[in-house]
Amino acid sequence: MVPAARPPELILAPLKGFTDSLFRNLFAGHFGGFDRAVAPFVTACPPERFEERLLRDLLPEENRSLPVEPQILGAAPEQVLFLYRRLAELGYREVNWNLGCPFRPVMRKGRGAGLLSQPELVERFLERVMPELAGALSIKMRLGRRSPEEIFALAPILNRYPLRAVIVHPRTARQMYAGPPDLAAFERFLACCRHPVVYNGEITDAAAFEALRRRLPQTAAWMIGRGALRDPFLPARIKGRDLPSPQARREAFWSFHDELCARSAERLDGEPRRLLNLMKGFWTYFADLFPEPAEVRRRIHRGSDLDALRTVLSSLRREGGERKPQGAPPGGGAPCAGFTGPLSAPGSRPPAA
Ligand SMILES: Cc1cc2nc3c(=O)[nH]c(=O)nc-3n(C[C@H](O)[C@H](O)[C@H](O)COP(=O)(O)O)c2cc1C
Repeated sequence: MVPAARPPELILAPLKGFTDSLFRNLFAGHFGGFDRAVAPFVTACPPERFEERLLRDLLPEENRSLPVEPQILGAAPEQVLFLYRRLAELGYREVNWNLGCPFRPVMRKGRGAGLLSQPELVERFLERVMPELAGALSIKMRLGRRSPEEIFALAPILNRYPLRAVIVHPRTARQMYAGPPDLAAFERFLACCRHPVVYNGEITDAAAFEALRRRLPQTAAWMIGRGALRDPFLPARIKGRDLPSPQARREAFWSFHDELCARSAERLDGEPRRLLNLMKGFWTYFADLFPEPAEVRRRIHRGSDLDALRTVLSSLRREGGERKPQGAPPGGGAPCAGFTGPLSAPGSRPPAA
């Protein structure tokens, strides 16, 4: 008998402003499919400026449904060590170091992807920090700040330290989040890194994942960010799980959505503008669940207050529930308004926006 292939290990990516503990718990409850998550970064700061609220999202009682690894953004060894120890006090045995944040103000301070072009600073950091850690460290990084070659100057340094894993988003900081991931560079890095290497970037459907898995068989695990917001059943699809019926998937999405919205409203009580912006942010991704994502985005983003948003959402919900019978009369319009994308046939994709 041929042994069944081991299901791939899937990690929910950190998306600051989106994948906080509320999202992680609701996602695990409604859709499942992820094995663990890396949390959005917490910025290291001098101990005298540290505030407990920075760790609120990482409290163990808020993170029972999915194993989570906290992430630290910082470059000053003493500040990172201080935060690492606070996280260890909460029970975390593994922490991720962010070497990928591409935003100018972050890089200007020599943090995130700002460090990728300075291997000597990375080496000094690891030399100081690694011997002090009671637990493990993993790194999430890009190929470089300006050039994809920068990662190859870093590889021998990373290889000298006992890192738990290296997660690579194969773009440079200059590319931000657009343009094709550089798979050739990722492949070369896989061959020269002695640590488990995790792939991250543009896993948008099960077919794209299969192509990556075939091309990059040495990859230890796979991290998915925006793809899971665009199709919450993507992790389950990749794992080849039996999906619920399209109707049940629609219901799961709306139930997840309503809970996300209601719980966010509780958290942001008295700040309607922030709630509006948060939900609009989510809908830039959720729109891809519909057959005409650009039109959904336009309708959502036009709303200037929560009442307008609610009106658009209830019409989307009505449209999504109104599946016309097969073989509708000629001239009866589209066979289904809403959810002909990822929530319908397994493996199908919504039309491009
Ligand atoms: C809105 C947003 C917030 C992000 N926040 C973080 C973060 O806190 N830490 C981090 O390492 N990467 C962060 N990233 C990068 C993602 O983790 C991931 O590397 C990137 O989106 C590519 O993966 P994807 O194509 O699967 O989304 C963020 C990306 C976006 C779009």
